[in-house]
Formats: sequence, structure tokens, C-alpha cells
Amino acid sequence: MSIKPINSILFVCLGNICRSPLAEGVFRTVLAERGEDLVIDSAGTGGWHAGEQPDRRSIAVAATHGVDISGQRARKVRPEDFSRFDLILGMDRANVRNLEALASPAARGRVHLYLDFATGNAADVPDPYYDGAEAFASVYRMIREASEALAKRLEASASLSSGQASSTM
Ligand code: 4NP
Repeated sequence: MSIKPINSILFVCLGNICRSPLAEGVFRTVLAERGEDLVIDSAGTGGWHAGEQPDRRSIAVAATHGVDISGQRARKVRPEDFSRFDLILGMDRANVRNLEALASPAARGRVHLYLDFATGNAADVPDPYYDGAEAFASVYRMIREASEALAKRLEASASLSSGQASSTM
């Protein structure tokens, strides 16, 4: 079986100011800690906040953990994202449904629910926009754990696809 390595990942939520900027920034940090490098970005299915910084509550919770996401800017998902990114991860089921509706049939297989793909737990990362700091802290914890799991999963599939995991010969 051949497994195509994943070189690029797009994290997607609704507004691209609360959850997916955290997923992008935290995953970038986890990759750097592991000495790995992938093309990563984030976007929203909605464009209301395009050009804006992440929500100040996401910036704050990330900063508490030493992750600076203040330089990221929101943007809307674009048609070319479906060919540019090997993996497109929606933060909740509504994001996944919207992404699947935008994707060509050939690209639909690149779209997955974030926590399900990363950890095998098919749960949503809940939208914290209308909630308080504790909701952002909870989202941060989910994303940190998922980011570690995602890095391990990608590393395992990369070594499988390059044959490094084969030791039975
Ligand atoms: P996000 O949160 O999808 O995690 O960025 C939201 C941000 C903005 C809105 C909704 C959700 N909004 O309706 O503007």
C-alpha cells in the first residue's frame, strides 16, 4: 500500500479568528519543537473577519503558553486551497460540511474533522466566540493535545510511506 505523504495542512473554522488560528499557531510550535517543517495555514468558511488579527482572547491564551499568533491574519477559504493543501481540517462538523460542499469530488477526501483525524475522537472543537476566557482555555487544551497527536500520526504515516517502519524483512 502506498501512502502519499502530507506536506501541507489547512486548519479551518468559521471566522478564522478564534479556533483555527490557534490550531495553526500551536501546530507550528509543535512542529518546531520536533524539528519538523510543513506548509501550514488557516482560513475561515466565512469572510467577515478577513484581514483581521485573531480574536484577542485567542492571542491571550496562546501567549500564556508562549505561542505568538498575533501576526496571523484571517482569510476566507479559497478554491485553490483544495489543490494547494494535502489535508484540510475543519474544527467542527458544520465546518466540514461547508468544506465538503466547496470541494470538488476529487478533493473531498482531503477534508476531515480535526479532532477525529488527529486523535480518533470524532468530536467538535466548540466555537468559543460567545463564551468567556475559560472556553478559550479549554479550546487551547484540546488543540495542544490534538497537535501533539497530529504530529505523531503524520510522522508515523511518513515513515510508513518511506518504508522506514518495515523491519520484518
Ligand atoms: P471561529 O469563531 O470560527 O473559531 O473563528 C468565530 C468567530 C467569529 C464568528 C463566529 C465564530 N462570527 O460570527 O463573527
